[in-house]
Amino acid sequence: MSNYHIKHLEEYYQVYRKSIRDPENFWEEIAGEHFLWRKKWDKVLDWDFKKPEIKWFEGAQLNITENCIDRHLTTKSDQTAILFEPNDPNEEAEHITYGQLHKRVNQFANVLKEQGVKRGDRVCIYVPMIPELAISLLACARIGAIHSVVFAGFSSKALATRINDSDCKMVITADGSYRGSKTIDLKGIVDEALKSCKGVQTVLVAKRINSEITMKAGRDKWLQPLLDKASYKCKAEIMNAEDPLFILYTSGSTGKPKGMVHTTGGYMVYTAYTFKNAFQYKENDVYWCTADIGWITGHSYIVYGPLANGATTVLFEGVPSYPDFGRFWDIVDKHKVNQFYTAPTAIRALAKQGVELIQKYDLSSLKVLGSVGEPINEEAWHWYNDNVGKSKSPIIDSWWQTETGGIMITPIPYVTPTKPTYATLPFIGIQPCLMDEEGKQLKGNQVDGRLCIKFPWPSIARTIWGNHQRYKETYFSAYDNMYFTGDGALRDEVGYYRITGRVDDVIIVSGHNLGTAPIEDAINEHPAISESAIVGFPHDIKGSALYGYITLKDAGESRNHENLRKEINQLISDRIGPISKLDKIQFTTGLPKTRSGKIMRRILRKIASKDTSNLGDTSTLLNPECVQDIMDNAL
Ligand code: PRX
Repeated sequence: MSNYHIKHLEEYYQVYRKSIRDPENFWEEIAGEHFLWRKKWDKVLDWDFKKPEIKWFEGAQLNITENCIDRHLTTKSDQTAILFEPNDPNEEAEHITYGQLHKRVNQFANVLKEQGVKRGDRVCIYVPMIPELAISLLACARIGAIHSVVFAGFSSKALATRINDSDCKMVITADGSYRGSKTIDLKGIVDEALKSCKGVQTVLVAKRINSEITMKAGRDKWLQPLLDKASYKCKAEIMNAEDPLFILYTSGSTGKPKGMVHTTGGYMVYTAYTFKNAFQYKENDVYWCTADIGWITGHSYIVYGPLANGATTVLFEGVPSYPDFGRFWDIVDKHKVNQFYTAPTAIRALAKQGVELIQKYDLSSLKVLGSVGEPINEEAWHWYNDNVGKSKSPIIDSWWQTETGGIMITPIPYVTPTKPTYATLPFIGIQPCLMDEEGKQLKGNQVDGRLCIKFPWPSIARTIWGNHQRYKETYFSAYDNMYFTGDGALRDEVGYYRITGRVDDVIIVSGHNLGTAPIEDAINEHPAISESAIVGFPHDIKGSALYGYITLKDAGESRNHENLRKEINQLISDRIGPISKLDKIQFTTGLPKTRSGKIMRRILRKIASKDTSNLGDTSTLLNPECVQDIMDNAL
């Protein structure tokens, strides 16, 4: 029996048990039957969480682009691989077939070679969401260069830090990018960054917005003329399964960003297998993930996972609000999207708008809705379910991390019954467990604790670039022989997991451990409220007390704030208990967010604690302007 595509719950349990009882045989079968290897492995798995060292499919050889492109050419040469939807809805969408993708990746790979990039070299990719972005990742992989994508919205400082940390010799960028009605001067940001990056020899520049930019002689080269001259044949470099495929930086709670290193074979197998099942992708479906390729979600579930399955994956350049807040639904309707994967922050922003913007469009093609990146609050879950999914498309609330490479806990749509705010069951092969603060494993159901993973899975990051010690300390030192996720979670009576948020978001009030997510959920039920964030601040008697930052749906509305405060605390009292009531409630015009849409609680905590002397680096925030406003009105 092939276990590659799970179709009902009983089968899930059966395959899950098999994957736990005998992981090596299980993964050997999945890897052996569904991928193209130049040479099979000598050993399926070798691991030691103490060192830590994890190796999957050691001795195997492959090239991931042969799996993502070449092997589909016999049957899918004319099928769309990447469907590019530009920022401007009046600009025509571009359908890049597997045949065309093959040529474009090979040409790009030849340009890289010609410019001196070799196997193992690091290439920084700072490109907006245009086809060249996906193609540049694949071109690096074609020749065995290690890509390090930096989200093309990060500042020059953030870019320079990342370029230097992994010693990139080339930067791929564009003249500029579109973002709704605005343009961003990307090349200017690169120029600024490179003032402090001595190792970069070449900058390849894609033309997107046709702006006037300066090109530094000898270093900067327009991409297109080089591509035009390049051959569209490029032999794939044969890589070892454990050769690094890419580095992707993720911010820790302290210190400089961590360059998570993902390797080739295991990453490919796991992202492809999760993609197939978590989205129930079927031949000819159109799949759309709204994330940016600058994040792990885009790497795994716009590029590698979908292409390894021969899927059609949408690549959207724009933003949900341009030309209006109906844009997502317009695109779903226009391209008849079947699977739609987005983040709670986008869902909440869209839910603030009227449902008329949805009703204008035909969303009947949708079969699966996904959510990722942070806990999805109950109100947003229902809004998504009722208005977008019309109560017929299951929502997969998928929990995972940059470090995990692929989805770890998720419902499988049409297989796992969903439950609002629950990521539900571990994916095949994943062995989660909950630990208490003393390091004891919590057995049975109806418990909550710190989420760890007991056994390696194929796409776990293997190290932090240049700092294996930090890798060990961050993920393998909190609990003996376990990968520690940094998240808190609870397991309900049937064994479903609910992620309650980062453990550092746990606030202890009068000796009670309070997760912020359930409190925010309760607050967000209030019809006047669009978003909230709870942090702790020092309190003489309680140790810590709760401070709530709350954004109203209609900021201009003249509501009585005192009454609102009472209503909010009543709601919390009703839903969770009086212990979770807020001591302070500040109404805000917005909450500081990272570029990936996560609320920056670190800043809010400092303001609540009246410790604003050093707020840290706010330059990478999406909306740095709201910080001053929050400080000015702090309680
Ligand atoms: O706290 C969890 C939260 O996002 C963290 C990982 O962030 P990042 O590495 O940026 O990757 C995001 C995309 C995979 C996790 O430690 N998180 C992610 N998905 C969920 C989530 N929290 C709750 N529910 C989720 N579905």
